[in-house]
Order: sequence, then structure tokens, then C-alpha cells
Amino acid sequence: MAIVALGGLLTVQLLWLNKAFKSEEKEFNLSVQVALSNAVQQLLGKAQGAAPSKPIRQIASSSFLAEVNAPVRAQELDTLLKYEFARRHITIPYEYGILKAEDDTLVFGNYVPATIKEKKLHPDQAVLTPNVPAGHYNFVVVFPSKTTYIFSEMQLWVFSTVALLVVVVFFGYTLYSILQEKRLTELKADFINNMTHELQTPITNIAIASEILKNADTPLPLAKTKRYHDIIFQENERLKEQVERVLQIAELEKKKMALTKTKTNVHQLLEESLRRLSLRLQKRAGQVTCHLQATQAVIQADNLHLTNALFNLLDNAEKYSPQVPEIKISTRNYHQGILISIADKGSGIRQEVQSRIFDTFYRVPTGNIHNVRGFGLGLSYVKTVIQAHQGTIQIKSQENQGSCFELYLPFSA
Ligand SMILES: Nc1ncnc2c1ncn2[C@@H]1O[C@H](COP(=O)(O)OP(=O)(O)O)[C@@H](O)[C@H]1O
Ligand SMILES: [Mg+2]
Repeated sequence: MAIVALGGLLTVQLLWLNKAFKSEEKEFNLSVQVALSNAVQQLLGKAQGAAPSKPIRQIASSSFLAEVNAPVRAQELDTLLKYEFARRHITIPYEYGILKAEDDTLVFGNYVPATIKEKKLHPDQAVLTPNVPAGHYNFVVVFPSKTTYIFSEMQLWVFSTVALLVVVVFFGYTLYSILQEKRLTELKADFINNMTHELQTPITNIAIASEILKNADTPLPLAKTKRYHDIIFQENERLKEQVERVLQIAELEKKKMALTKTKTNVHQLLEESLRRLSLRLQKRAGQVTCHLQATQAVIQADNLHLTNALFNLLDNAEKYSPQVPEIKISTRNYHQGILISIADKGSGIRQEVQSRIFDTFYRVPTGNIHNVRGFGLGLSYVKTVIQAHQGTIQIKSQENQGSCFELYLPFSA
């Protein structure tokens, strides 16, 4: 409703502005026509108010033609125009030209600058003593800055229109922010649902296992006890990992990441993050091929954050491969830095959402199927880390074909 109301208000304002402009213009044209017509009367030596000769014709929006069809002395015309315009407070610059009546050829032209006050009406001797041969002439007057002048006469109108436009712009901006905020709120709600679920599963498993151990009347066989202990240990690890991830948000919320940069071998970090993933890869018989071709792999970087970032990419590559994961890692040197590419043959990412996957909490919607769990924090963390290293990250992906993330990190920022 606000949009409709504002739209209506703006339309009305513009219609009125147009109307006001037209009436101001009409007024101006009339003044000029009367002034010119007076000048013509006087040129012809008639008394003011005598029967007019041919009317003044407006040949374009800002030019007027007076068909005198009689001898015209340039100097006299100059004085007359200045006088007549000043009397009517037409104080903008203008040009006039004297034309031959038969063929409209220009025999004399002059430019008169702005603001000639009424007091200074005496013929300006210095201006001209032109040589206009005898004959019949007409003259034209052109006001090059007519439109600007009319607008300047309508200051109040222009001011109120600008004010309204400012309101419209701010309204638009507010609307945009609200929608943005709403989107974020929805994402956050998703995130919380997600997190609760993720935390609940290990908590429940631990509760069941420990309860069995606690309530056993007779000592359980050793193998069984060990199994329950293992479950508790594993679930606890999982819980730790989840909490770790959530803690990454805090890191993200900080505008500037605090990095401790040391000489770091990127190849070692890649191996380290692969090690973290190896158990999961083994379970699914995943394959990893490495082409570490960079000859200079040592850069100035934050060990921990960069390892986390690389792990996140590998983690995604594994998670989003519905079939057996096939991950390809390669590096090479490029422009004073190193290029790392991590490619998988997984589910890929649609073109339309590729620009959003680096947003905090964003996860590609999959309808009602929630087979892959996550918080939508990984990639935004990766991006923050890479940017803190003055690097860049790009994605190439096709749906159902796989994805390839390409990182560039300079040797030292
Ligand atoms: N390698 C990949 N293949 C397919 N989709 C991916 C890949 N990496 C990321 N995505 C998509 O981008 C989204 C955001 O990734 P991320 O920020 O790591 O969050 P999460 O992994 O917790 O869902 C994921 O939900 C997923 O839809
Ligand atoms: Mg992820």
C-alpha cells in the first residue's frame, strides 16, 4: 500500500510539475512576444498600441521570429530589445540575428549576456556600428537558456519534487533492508532448527549408552562394555566437532579476523586436512588424486584457519558426492602466489545459486530431502579466511556433474 501511495504521490507531483512548467513557459513566451511586438512597432516608427503589423512567430521552443519586412538598423534594434526585455524583467542571455526578408540569410548577429538592468539602458556604443546594407529585413531572437531559466523561476516546485524523490529513494532503501533482514532471519531460523537436530542425535546416543552401563545389575561382558564406551566416545567427538563449527560463527561475525601468519607449506596443510577426512573417505571407499605441481608452496599464512578452510572444502566435496567420492586436488604457481583447486564429481551447484553459497547460513534448498546435514557456515568461513589472506576463491560447477573450487593465495600479502 505504501508503494502504491508513494507512486500516486509521485505521479501527481510530476503531473503538477509539468503543468506548472507549461504555464511558466506560456507566460514567458507571451512576455517575449509582447516585448518583440513593441520593438517592431517602434522600429517601424509607429506609436505603441497602433495596429500591429505581422504577429511575432515562435519558430521553435526558444526562438522567436519578428517579420518586420522593412529596413532595420542594427544599433536601434539592439537598444530596443534591451529596453523592452529589461522592462519585462527578462534578464537571461539571448542572441538575435537580422535576416534578409527575401531569402532568410543572416546579415548580422549578436549575443547579449545576462542581467542587463533597467538603469543601464543607454545604447552601448562599443557594441556595434555594423554595416547592414539597405533593404528589407526580419529578425530572430533566441534564448539558449530558456528551460533552465523557467526551472529557476519554479524553485519551490523543483525543491518539493526533489524532496519527494529523496523520500522515495529512502523508502526504497528501507524496503530493501527489511527484505534483506527477513531473509537473514529465515536463514537463522533454519540454522537453529538444524543445529538443535544435529546436537540432539549425539546427546541421545550418549544418554542411552551411559544409561545401559549405569543400570546394568550384573557386570556386562567386556566386549559389550567396550562397545558402549566407544559409542559414548565417538558421539562426544561428534558433539565437539559440531560445537567447533558453531564457534566459527563468532569468528565470522568479527569483521577483521585475527591472523597469526607464519611461513606455511600449503601442501602440508592439504595433507593435514586430508588426514582429518581420511576415516570418512575410507568408509565410503572414496578416491583422492593429488597433483601438487606448485614448486613454491610456502606462503605467509595462518596455519589453523587455512587448514580449517581447506578441510571445509574437502568436507563439502565428500558430503555432496552422493556416489563414491572422487576428489581431485591440484596446485600450481601463478602470479606471485599459489593456485589450489579442489574438484569433486558430486551433485554440483545450480548456476543461479552459485553466487549465494558463500553467504552465511545459506544452504542450497533441496526441498524436503535432508540427507546431508550442515549449517551453511563452511563456505562463508572459507571466504572470510581467504580474503583475510588477500586471496580469492572461485567456483565452477554444473548440476549433477560436480564442482571445482579454485583458490588463489599470494605468497605474502
Ligand atoms: N562441493 C560441493 N558440491 C555441491 N554442493 C556444494 C558443495 N560445496 C557446497 N555446496 C553447497 O553450498 C552450500 C553451502 O556450503 P557450506 O557453507 O559448506 O554449508 P554446509 O556444508 O554446512 O551446508 C551447501 O549447503 C551445499 O548446498
Ligand atoms: Mg560445508
